[in-house]
Amino acid sequence: MAEAKPLRRNHAAALLLVNIRQLLTLHSPGAGPRRGRDLNDLRLIEDGAVLCVGGKIVSVGRTKDALSDSWTKKNRKKFCDIDCSGKVVIPGFVDSHTHPAFTAPRLGDFEQRISGASYEQIAEAGGGIRSSVEGVRQATRAALAGHVLDALNQMLAQGTTTVEAKSGYGLSLEAELKSLEAIADAAGQWPGTVVPTLLGAHIVPREYEGREDEYVRIVCQEMIPRAAEGKLARFVDVFCDRGAFSPASTEQVFLTARENGLGVRAHVGQLTRSEIAPLLKYDPASLDHMDHVEEEDIAALASQSAISPAHQTAATLVPGANYFLGMGRFPDARRLIDSGVPVALASDYNPGTSPTASMPFVLSLACSHMRMTPAEAIAAATINGAHALRLAERKGSIEPGKDADLAIFDVADYREVPYWVAAQRCTTVIVNGVKVQL
Ligand code: NIG
Ligand code: FE
Repeated sequence: MAEAKPLRRNHAAALLLVNIRQLLTLHSPGAGPRRGRDLNDLRLIEDGAVLCVGGKIVSVGRTKDALSDSWTKKNRKKFCDIDCSGKVVIPGFVDSHTHPAFTAPRLGDFEQRISGASYEQIAEAGGGIRSSVEGVRQATRAALAGHVLDALNQMLAQGTTTVEAKSGYGLSLEAELKSLEAIADAAGQWPGTVVPTLLGAHIVPREYEGREDEYVRIVCQEMIPRAAEGKLARFVDVFCDRGAFSPASTEQVFLTARENGLGVRAHVGQLTRSEIAPLLKYDPASLDHMDHVEEEDIAALASQSAISPAHQTAATLVPGANYFLGMGRFPDARRLIDSGVPVALASDYNPGTSPTASMPFVLSLACSHMRMTPAEAIAAATINGAHALRLAERKGSIEPGKDADLAIFDVADYREVPYWVAAQRCTTVIVNGVKVQL
């Protein structure tokens, strides 16, 4: 679907949400991402209320206190009330890892996998990431933006209000810049917040087959400087794995990104293990997938509590990919969490390994297949997702001063969000203080 219709938006100066059966504020006890036991602490308020003015959260508390407040009483007529009786309100999901800049599903790959081929075998036989490239190179910027907007709207409908969006299916200077411009165009038509990432180092394109170093030079000397100069990306990502980019290339891309003022993040340990410690010196916001990790990698990520909260690296787990690839195994979230690693959850929305825009579904997978508690899963998909994007000062929790991004679920208990598998229980989202009825 190339053209997506913008969702109905209701512009209101001030919103007062009242009678919220369970308000999950995720109010942060400390400045850094949540780890260990803190991941279970949702800071839940029963019969809660939230006042949003000018796109920001102004106050959070009990309904009876909100209604008896003298300022609220005086200004009440100016507010648009939202009655949340019997409902659960959470911070809008922060989906910190998505690949929406593609044009078509990969149905051939899907069928080959059903017949028993692995992700790597499909890629070697001409499918995989490279098979999405032609469509992106041929597409107009407007058509690509339409695909991105369609994906963003699907995410919004499931309660996601902040999305990291990667390029990565263009694999040439022109097509990677076009992908980032399409992401910017779609972001401009979407009420939520989009964080763009350059993933020029997704895979070596066919025309550079066997010449990884030469292609990395294009990424470093052309793509990164142009993306930085045009303010088209906030992060640079690398797929560091067997069949993609080596740890040495990853470090080279990271170094160049840092020199150009961009943050870094990487796909690590999806197919094979890569050592984490050497990457940490580039201050990555997040290292994602982490299916294959050793004790020393976990120790390196867990020991960051000694450094400042602004420089923590999240481990972002993307169980949608494990599910869709039928891998029969999931990342060891329990071991990571219990060791003190700040874990985030994301959809990894993409046409090859995780064609889902649904964070509630990702939460279901995290609970049922990774033994995360519903509370841990919600914290990992909100406040820790915000940390994984270095946006926690604005996003990821319902606290005065933060952006008014909220998701309202028609359930009586927050545990129902992951419990109802593949369901649509999100009825309303508030994005930057604006109500979007779904
Ligand atoms: O996160 N692993 C690299 N990138 C994507 C897959 C991309 C694709 O297959 O199109 C991922 O799983
Ligand atoms: Fe990915």
